[in-house]
Amino acid sequence: MKRATLEKRPDEVAAMFDEVAPKYDIVNDVLSMGQTRRWRRLVVDAVGARPGSRVLDLAAGTGTSSEPYADAGVSVVACDFSLGMLKVGKRRRPDIDFVAGDATNLPFEDNSFDATTISFGLRNVNEPKKALAEMLRVTKPGGKLVIAEFSSPVVPLWRTMYTEYLMRALPPIARKVASNPDAYVYLAESIRAWPNQDELAAWIAAEGWESVAYRNLSGGIVAIHRAVKPAEAAGA
Ligand SMILES: C[S@@+](CC[C@H](N)C(=O)[O-])C[C@H]1O[C@@H](n2cnc3c(N)ncnc32)[C@H](O)[C@@H]1O
Repeated sequence: MKRATLEKRPDEVAAMFDEVAPKYDIVNDVLSMGQTRRWRRLVVDAVGARPGSRVLDLAAGTGTSSEPYADAGVSVVACDFSLGMLKVGKRRRPDIDFVAGDATNLPFEDNSFDATTISFGLRNVNEPKKALAEMLRVTKPGGKLVIAEFSSPVVPLWRTMYTEYLMRALPPIARKVASNPDAYVYLAESIRAWPNQDELAAWIAAEGWESVAYRNLSGGIVAIHRAVKPAEAAGA
């Protein structure tokens, strides 16, 4: 398996993440020039979970996005379908509840989480709209959804510079630091193919979430989308 194609066959995506798992976090830090740490802090602020509440961190990978919740006394479930990523996470943070599961068919009961969040994962899911519906199902009425994902820089010059970075600079850097550089070609291509901020907001609303809003980080390189499950959503 070299790299997942943009058809995002689930077995290929899982195999690709199994392969990058050992160096995933360090490579992330290098390629984002340290920005991921700031982005992650802002995601945690948006979730605003209190000690004792229950949060689902979907597509949690090695659990880096789940750690701040566990550290704050929040009961976090880190769910992912790459056993390689989960294994690296469990070794590092045995105290976190890692669960194997597919975002499009979650192994959780209806209305079981106060908040559901997914960081840099939704773009990799083969049927992202189905995942948005599943996240709605497992979130309690009135509960929150927070999505962090790469997006579209809003200023045209910044967008051009960023696209150049993605398509030209990132692959050679990835060849130096990553165990599977092809995974980072997939990363660049999948970011370019992903819907912009408003399109993603429309997808979220279409699956039944309300009060959908987003904020741009780093000029729109990343966007954090927020939404709430309607209080009276029946059965969902
Ligand atoms: C880029 S990593 C993000 C990991 C973590 N959330 C973070 O912020 O570092 C994307 C993760 O999405 C997971 N993923 C992709 N499709 C999935 C699916 N259908 N169900 C569950 N996990 C999935 C991959 O296995 C991978 O671990």
